[in-house]
Amino acid sequence: MAESMKALAKTAPGVGLELIDAPIPEAGPEDVLIRVHRTAVCGTDIHIWNWDEWSQKNVPTPMITGHEFAGEIVAIGKDVDRPLKIGQRVSAEGHVIDLNSEAARAGHFHLDPKTRGIGVNRQGAFAEFVVAPAFNVIELPDDVPYEIGSILDPFGNAVHTAQQFDLLGEDVLVTGAGPIGMMAAAVARHAGARTVVLTDINDFRLELAQKVAPGVRTVNTTKEDIHDVMKELGLKVGFDVALEMSGSPIAFKQCVDTLIMGGGMAMLGIPSKPMETDWGAIILKALTIKGVYGREMFTTWRKMLGLLKAGLDLQPLITHRLDYADYREGFEAMKSGQSGKVVLNWDKAA
Ligand SMILES: NC(=O)c1ccc[n+]([C@@H]2O[C@H](COP(=O)([O-])OP(=O)(O)OC[C@H]3O[C@@H](n4cnc5c(N)ncnc54)[C@H](O)[C@@H]3O)[C@@H](O)[C@H]2O)c1
Ligand SMILES: [Zn+2]
Repeated sequence: MAESMKALAKTAPGVGLELIDAPIPEAGPEDVLIRVHRTAVCGTDIHIWNWDEWSQKNVPTPMITGHEFAGEIVAIGKDVDRPLKIGQRVSAEGHVIDLNSEAARAGHFHLDPKTRGIGVNRQGAFAEFVVAPAFNVIELPDDVPYEIGSILDPFGNAVHTAQQFDLLGEDVLVTGAGPIGMMAAAVARHAGARTVVLTDINDFRLELAQKVAPGVRTVNTTKEDIHDVMKELGLKVGFDVALEMSGSPIAFKQCVDTLIMGGGMAMLGIPSKPMETDWGAIILKALTIKGVYGREMFTTWRKMLGLLKAGLDLQPLITHRLDYADYREGFEAMKSGQSGKVVLNWDKAA
């Protein structure tokens, strides 16, 4: 095996990422080394690219970025006791936890407050090789291609959020048709919702959503009043469940305004700054609001693979397939809002 690899890294504080030659990492006793085939660009990677306030506080440099990936196992640490094999096709949960934390011991792996992120606080997957704890590895079924494997992480956010409330036969509002909102709308359809309304302010995304989540009623809220759409769909009072996936205070308010008494809202979208909230409206409507973080380890992964098997098709969400060397184009597409998921191919790097 060569000694160095291509990797996309933040080499020093500042805007952008650099393509570098980096040493191939070594798997520790409880880790596996994965040859990366596909990676996907996440909103988090854009934050790191932009070197915003959050990144400056949370991302040490030098750091190879990227946490959405799929590849094959090429080395297995000596103490790994899971039945993993060399050559096995895998993805991995990007949240690396302390198995001795109170949360982990209580069985809430995804709620360890000291979670470390691959490509955020430890070396990431925008590279030919990445090391991950064997515990985090997810085996990919033969019929799940690498590119789909590379977008399971955000799919997990969508599935986990959709799992917060019973959607069967309910009227569901999803605000924000980013990649995660589109996938959540598709999940809500598969989960048997009566109606699914998906809002955004970007027509490109709403058009794409029609392919990712067929049958969903899309609404550009700058052009159409959501109350008119509710009437059109025969909603007499309001939505039963809202999944907030934009981080926009305007969308948050629309959720509160259009939910029924006793309705539920799951919030995944992260507001860019503290937002003013009409708590009186929330209290008097007796709403239940749940913050949602990450994905459950590993129930959400099981459900994701189950949904794919049941026919939920994520292919239409991938709008850009690029070689790793064309990463700038990929990041530009993501920043423009004129994209679904951008997937980078690392095969030619070898
Ligand atoms: N809680 C978590 O663990 C977690 C994990 C991943 C992502 N997130 C957050 O989830 C959100 C969705 O992620 P994504 O990758 O799909 O993000 P994204 O930025 O691609 O999508 C957000 C979408 O919201 C739309 N939007 C903006 N204002 C709106 C409004 N008023 N009404 C409706 N839509 C509006 C944008 O046009 C965009 O299409 C982001 O806020 C992200 O930070 C949270
Ligand atoms: Zn991600």
